Amino acid sequence: MKYAAPKNILMTTPTGFKIAYAINPHMLDAEGKLKVVDETKALKQWQSLHDLYLSLGLTVSVIEGREKFPDLVFAANPTFPFLDRDGKPSVVLARMHSKFRQEETKIYSAWAASQGLRVYELTSGFFEGSGDAIWNFETREIFGGHGFRTDEAIYPTLDQITATRIHRLELIDPRFYHLDTCLSILDATSAAFVPEAFSREAIATLENAFSNLIRISVDEAVHGFAGNAFCPDGQNVVLQTGNSCFAGDLRQAGFTVHEVETGEFIKSGGSVFCTKQQY
Ligand code: ARG
Repeated sequence: MKYAAPKNILMTTPTGFKIAYAINPHMLDAEGKLKVVDETKALKQWQSLHDLYLSLGLTVSVIEGREKFPDLVFAANPTFPFLDRDGKPSVVLARMHSKFRQEETKIYSAWAASQGLRVYELTSGFFEGSGDAIWNFETREIFGGHGFRTDEAIYPTLDQITATRIHRLELIDPRFYHLDTCLSILDATSAAFVPEAFSREAIATLENAFSNLIRISVDEAVHGFAGNAFCPDGQNVVLQTGNSCFAGDLRQAGFTVHEVETGEFIKSGGSVFCTKQQY
């Protein structure tokens, strides 16, 4: 049985987006200085993503960014949307690892309530929402990364809340600090991943779960954030431009690739998947 993917996208405008601190290795340049965002380019890139989602038939709702929260634009992190055991659209609120980002969840919690989503909260541990917990919408399986931002210890509670046995995946390379930097789920049986980012057990779990597993090179995953590609519907894949090997593999496998420019967000350690929430 294949379930349909949800059609709603949430994005947060890049108002206030900047690199004000370094909480992942991508945020620093070769001299160890904070990278600098070009705000005009960031807005243009964000707008193109927004318009692309509309053209793919998705509904996009928008939260206004805030000067106080330089990473608020990364809408994937503060919540994890899912259908709860009553089948009701719900979210689990993140418990963000970095003190700089912890207050962001309040804004997303208010947004979720305004959408009529049921809101679940964890009481301890760290959990970074859809940065680390990723649905396969077509099978309703959930894959849960841990090791950098999310504690493995939150997963038994998350299993209960979601009434699902979440497949846990250990991340071992700090450049791939969120699961969504190294795993892109494409459809019921297909996913793309960066082998170097995962423990051996995690690779075995992925091999077991997906019969069509595409490998992404470390080079494209680090420089082009290829692992952060986003497939909203089992057919269209939105991908940072310049990842020619991965784009070729996707086309070969029958997917429709939409290349976009997200370079300003890559400076902060995020790309297509991070800058939206699907619910
Ligand atoms: N600068 C942000 C952070 O380090 C980037 C978040 C990217 N989001 C993601 N889902 N990978 O938290």
